[in-house]
Amino acid sequence: MLDMRPSEAGLIAFHDHAPEEESFLEATLEGLSRPDKAIPCRFLYDERGSALFDQICELEEYYPTRTETGILKACAPEIARRIGPAAQLIELGSGSSVKVRVLLEAFDHPAAYVAVDVSRAHLLRAARRLAADFPDLEVAAICADYAAAFPLPELGGGGRRLAFFPGSTIGNLEPEAALAFLKLWARRLGPGAAMLVGVDLRKDPGVLHAAYDDSLGVTAAFSLNLLARANRELGADFDLGGFRHEARYDQGKGRIEIHLRSLKDQGVRLGRRSFAFGRGERMHLEHSYKYEIGQFQDLARAAGFRPDAVFTDPAGLFSVHYLTTS
Ligand code: TRP
Repeated sequence: MLDMRPSEAGLIAFHDHAPEEESFLEATLEGLSRPDKAIPCRFLYDERGSALFDQICELEEYYPTRTETGILKACAPEIARRIGPAAQLIELGSGSSVKVRVLLEAFDHPAAYVAVDVSRAHLLRAARRLAADFPDLEVAAICADYAAAFPLPELGGGGRRLAFFPGSTIGNLEPEAALAFLKLWARRLGPGAAMLVGVDLRKDPGVLHAAYDDSLGVTAAFSLNLLARANRELGADFDLGGFRHEARYDQGKGRIEIHLRSLKDQGVRLGRRSFAFGRGERMHLEHSYKYEIGQFQDLARAAGFRPDAVFTDPAGLFSVHYLTTS
């Protein structure tokens, strides 16, 4: 539920650059019409999906969230030293306020916090909470697709800008899109700024597989919720027992591939149309690319950043890259 207490809403500046979103209906119709069926992964995160994703982050097998938070706690003083006083922190995808707090608490009198997210409800909730907890911070919320063109608001403080992109969300972009995204932010941030990016690392396929197909079935429930959502919101008739969550690791491409596999020949109705699934046919949901440290640094360099420092956990599961613009 979106809590709209005006006293709190008044603490933040709100900039609306919300994209003309392709609707869930349009995207699903388009995705089911393709020879290689697919539904874009951004539709996984409805209210129920977001709650399931929070549960995934708590799982023993899903190491990224916990590991990244640990790295940030350890390296926050070092990042604070590099970024200096009166910093302006811009968070891309504002779900993870635990992580951003670790940074804000370590920084020397941070001046501003800007949350950027396409989900208006999440965005306002996160920005308001932060404004309430850090009374000296100038807080702004921008409703936008962070990979699209929109202007950054003028912020006070006069310190350096730091864009923060945690969660290895960059791994959910195809490499060409990741490059374009980093290029856009290098330009948008301008000279003398920095970007902090969480990047999951290549590792033992067994560990990766367990992280994306856990023993309690929470990840499977998260994937299948997409079909439940289509039934709920679009009146589709997906048989939830007729599909299975599947995560496989392609070692050559260095990516986890997430699909729903049809367990039988079946038809699915959506509106006035019907879509045939063959037994064993897969519908694509998401890729999650894993990088070698040097490989990601090359990508950052190609985008116009200087890879300035990289922090990892003792087991080498995850990396946090501090990139600067010249
Ligand atoms: N950004 C997350 C990741 O790649 C998203 C994710 C985790 C996910 N588990 C999933 C997406 C399962 C779809 C299905 O790690």
